[in-house]
Amino acid sequence: MGTFIVEGERELRGTVSVSGSKNAALPIIFATLLTHGVSRISNLPDIEDVNVALELIAEYGAVISRRGHLTVINTENLNYVIPSTALTERIRASTYLLGASLGRFGRACLGSFGGCNFSHRPIDMHLRAAEAYGAERLGDVLEAQAQNPFTIRFPKRSVGATVNSLLLASSVAGESRISGAAGEPHINTLIEFLRSAGAHIDTAEDTLTIRGGELHGGEVTIPGDMIEAGTYLALSLLNDGSVGVEGAEAPELSGFLFPFISSGASLVRRGGTLLLRGRLRSRTDITTLPYPGFPTDLQPIAAPVLGCFLGGSITDTVWEGRFGYLAELQKMGLSSAVEKNLAEIYPSRLHSSSVRALDLRGGAACLLAALTARGESRVESGELLFRGYERLCEKLLLLGAKIRYVS
Ligand code: EPZ
Repeated sequence: MGTFIVEGERELRGTVSVSGSKNAALPIIFATLLTHGVSRISNLPDIEDVNVALELIAEYGAVISRRGHLTVINTENLNYVIPSTALTERIRASTYLLGASLGRFGRACLGSFGGCNFSHRPIDMHLRAAEAYGAERLGDVLEAQAQNPFTIRFPKRSVGATVNSLLLASSVAGESRISGAAGEPHINTLIEFLRSAGAHIDTAEDTLTIRGGELHGGEVTIPGDMIEAGTYLALSLLNDGSVGVEGAEAPELSGFLFPFISSGASLVRRGGTLLLRGRLRSRTDITTLPYPGFPTDLQPIAAPVLGCFLGGSITDTVWEGRFGYLAELQKMGLSSAVEKNLAEIYPSRLHSSSVRALDLRGGAACLLAALTARGESRVESGELLFRGYERLCEKLLLLGAKIRYVS
């Protein structure tokens, strides 16, 4: 358990560099289990979720070396194991072991998966893909009686089910087809890695056609994290554009930027740096949607921003019940009302307080509010933020924040 202690209302300025994307890195780490050889991954972020994922694949025998920004993973000699619950319970991405372990060993353990528990997080679509591939469920274990190429149509967009289906389809000879696939940029990075390892993957709108087989080592560079970029762009807006964000792709952020720009903010590009500045001159209404819509992972970040301007609403169509963090922000004076998946955020004056990070992004929202509010605030359970934000204190200190982390 650790606490961020923040002296707020300081003018932040300077440029912050975005690290490699958490949600692109995690599927690729598990995908290396399908490969027989040496994979080279550049720009893997040094964050808790990535460290846990690396520990998990090491349990199967993966040999990992990290030098600077290059991570080399040798998966030539692996053995099937039941992964430690102590690790799987820490990250949601341990669900990717379903596809990776089934694909490599014909068996996978259905353990307890962790991560942010802001909502019920079903895996029925992952299991449907595993069944279509030929797996049967025997208690807590999935056993592949046969390993077949398969065709599946998902009724809704799911990042995790798309990842697991891609892993299964890439591990088997013959042609598989996934329709209704998620289209997040991190899915494209996984496809790039799987192609480099020998899988043939065609994409057409929401349909992926895969011809897999035995994979060799692959190579990929993890792109910048759009959720981290959005978090710092929110800070940029709260500081009238004096914070620049480097290493983010504006087109990927368009779903996030659109409501702010519609309400009066402007995006300024200076070379490779983005700044978000101006005032929100009307209420801002946000609806989260799968990519390229407004990302659900950035809705908590948007809440303090809306409160500092003219208020607005957030409708989360991806997750139910992802507003727990608003009760914490209320302790800092952010006024809101929640009904089902709709939160109304009222214009508010933030003040310092002690709050608790309930999950990764809710915690980041509390930190953003603490940086904005007058006086000293404390964000408890702050270790949750290290799951997804690399060198967080260091980056904020460079912008002029007064922040320390006490464990
Ligand atoms: C990924 O979670 C991300 N996690 C989440 O980010 C993100 O919020 C989410 O995608 C949506 O963008 C990782 O990439 C590790 P989903 P995932 O399957 O894959 C329903 C963060 O803060 N669904 O795309 O678990 C589900 O209930 C984390 O970095 C089913 O109904 O999400 C939800 O409504 C938090 N059945 C919707 O699909 C299933 O079998 C989208 O979930 C699977 C999902």
